[in-house]
Amino acid sequence: MVESVLKMDVWVGDFSVREADVWVIGVYQGGEPQAALSRCGEAVEREVRRILKAGWMRGESGEMLMLPVPGSSGVAVERILLAGMGKRESLTLESFRALGASVVKACEKGSVDRAIVLVSLDTHQEIAPIAVMECMAEGGWLGSYRYDRLQSVSKKDLPRHRVKRLEFALPGEQDKNGRKRLSRVEQIITGVNMARDLANTPGNLLTPDILAKKAKELAERLPIKTTVLSSAVLAQKGMNGILAVGQGSTNPPCLIVMEYRKGGDRPTLAVVGKAVTFDSGGISLKPGAKMEEMKFDMSGGAAVFGFMHAIAEMQLPLNVVGIVPAAENMPSGTAQRPGDVIKTAKGVYVEVINTDAEGRLILADALHHAASFDPDVIIDLATLTGACVIALGGHATALLGNNEPLQKQLKKAGDRCGERVWPLPMFPEYQEQIKSVVADIKNVGGREAGTITAACFLSRFVEESRAWAHLDIAGTAYDMTGTRPHMPKGSVGIGVRLLCQYALSERM
Ligand code: BES
Ligand code: ZN
Ligand code: ZN
Repeated sequence: MVESVLKMDVWVGDFSVREADVWVIGVYQGGEPQAALSRCGEAVEREVRRILKAGWMRGESGEMLMLPVPGSSGVAVERILLAGMGKRESLTLESFRALGASVVKACEKGSVDRAIVLVSLDTHQEIAPIAVMECMAEGGWLGSYRYDRLQSVSKKDLPRHRVKRLEFALPGEQDKNGRKRLSRVEQIITGVNMARDLANTPGNLLTPDILAKKAKELAERLPIKTTVLSSAVLAQKGMNGILAVGQGSTNPPCLIVMEYRKGGDRPTLAVVGKAVTFDSGGISLKPGAKMEEMKFDMSGGAAVFGFMHAIAEMQLPLNVVGIVPAAENMPSGTAQRPGDVIKTAKGVYVEVINTDAEGRLILADALHHAASFDPDVIIDLATLTGACVIALGGHATALLGNNEPLQKQLKKAGDRCGERVWPLPMFPEYQEQIKSVVADIKNVGGREAGTITAACFLSRFVEESRAWAHLDIAGTAYDMTGTRPHMPKGSVGIGVRLLCQYALSERM
C-alpha cells in the first residue's frame, strides 16, 4: 500500500483524553456553532460563543478561525479551529469534501500536527455522521495533493508544514466500519493521485513508451497483468488508427492492456482511456493559446491507471480489463494529412478530415480490441471534444452510450462521489453527420453537436449488443482555477472515483 503523508483515524467516545493540538468545530452561516461544542467543556464553550456573538466569524463556507484556548480552561488542546460550513440547509456531500480540504489547509498554515474534528449529529438530516467523516477525509486527502516534483531545491528550502494526523470523533454508536471506510477512501484517493501525477507530467517526460513502462511497474507491485502492444504488433493487427495518430512523432505509439481478474465467474468490465500524451493537433495544428494544457489529453488513460491501482489495492472481487491506447499527436513530414484514409482494425475505412480529431481514431482500435475480451460492459473515458467544454463546462462529464441501465448506474455513482455526469442523446439522425464521400465515415461531423457526433463515431466500433458508456471528460479532467479547496490547480484525476463508486455499488 502506498501510504499517505497525512494519516487519518476515526473513533467514538471521549476525545478530550486524546493527544492533539487542535479541536475542529463547525460553525453554520450566521454564527451558530455545531452541537459538538458542548462536548468541549464549559470554559471553551463560553469563549467560543462570546467570539461568535461578537461577529468575529460568520460561518461562511471556507472561513476558518484559529483560536487559542484560555489557559485556565483545563482542556487537552491549546487551540480551537472554527470551521465555516455555510448554510445548514444547503450542505451537501461535496461541501464536506471542500470543508475537509479547508480544515487541512488551515492546519498547515497554523503548523498543526494533530487535529481532531468533532463530528456533530446536527449537520444535516440526510447526511449521516459517517458520510460526513468519509467526505471530509476524502477532501482532506484530495486537497493536500501537490505536484511539486519538478520544482527546484530552492523552493523546497521553505517546506510547507504537513499535518500528520487528522482524527474524527464521532458521536456515540456511529463507528460501524469507520476505520474500514476510511482506509477504502485512502485507497481510492491513492488511485486518484496516481492519475493526477500521470496527467500533470509534461509531454516531454511522459511519452507513450514511458506510460507503458509505468503499466509494467504496476504489474510488479499489484495483482495486475500488463501487456504492451508495440507499434510493430499494432501494424500486424491492422490498428492503423493508433498508428496514424502516432506516425508524426518520434515517440512511437502503443496499446497498453492491464488485466485484473479476481472476480471468478462474475461479469467482465472493460475500461478504455484515451492517452494522447500531447495533442498539438498534428497538421491541423491547434492555436498556441493554452496548447500546453494538451499534456492533459491522456487523462482518460490516467483514470484507467488510477482505477486499476485502486481496485487492486482494495482487492475487490472484480474482473476488469484496462485498455489504454497511447500516442503523441505531432506535425511533421511523417504526420498524417487531412484527406488521408485509414483502414482501422475493425475494417472500417475512415477519412481523416481533421488531424486534431485524433482521440476517436485511437479509441476506434482500442474499443475494437476491447471486444476480444468479451466484456459485459465497456466504459470509455476521453478528453474528446472542445464542444463538451462549451456544453457543460467543468461541472459535469458528458455521458453517452447505448444502454440506459448503465447510464443510470453511472449517474447514481457520479452523484454519490461528486464526479457528476450528464447525459446527451445519440439519436440515429446524428450519424448522418459523419458520412464520408470517399470512405465509410469521416472523423469530424461539423460544428453542430460535436460531442455527440464524436460519440457516434465511437459507436461504430462497439457492437450494439454490448453495454457501452462513453464519458467525455474534456471539461472535467483538469481545473486551472484553484477555486475548489479539494482540487489543486492541474489534473483532477477525474474518473477514478466515479469508476470506483460504480464498481463498489454495482459489484460488477
Ligand atoms: N483533445 C482535444 C479535445 C479537448 C479540447 C480536450 C479542449 C480538452 C480541452 C481533441 O483531440 C480535439 O482537438 N478535438 C477537436 C475535434 C474537432 C477537430 C472535430 C475539437 O474539439 O476541437
Ligand atoms: Zn485533438
Ligand atoms: Zn485530443
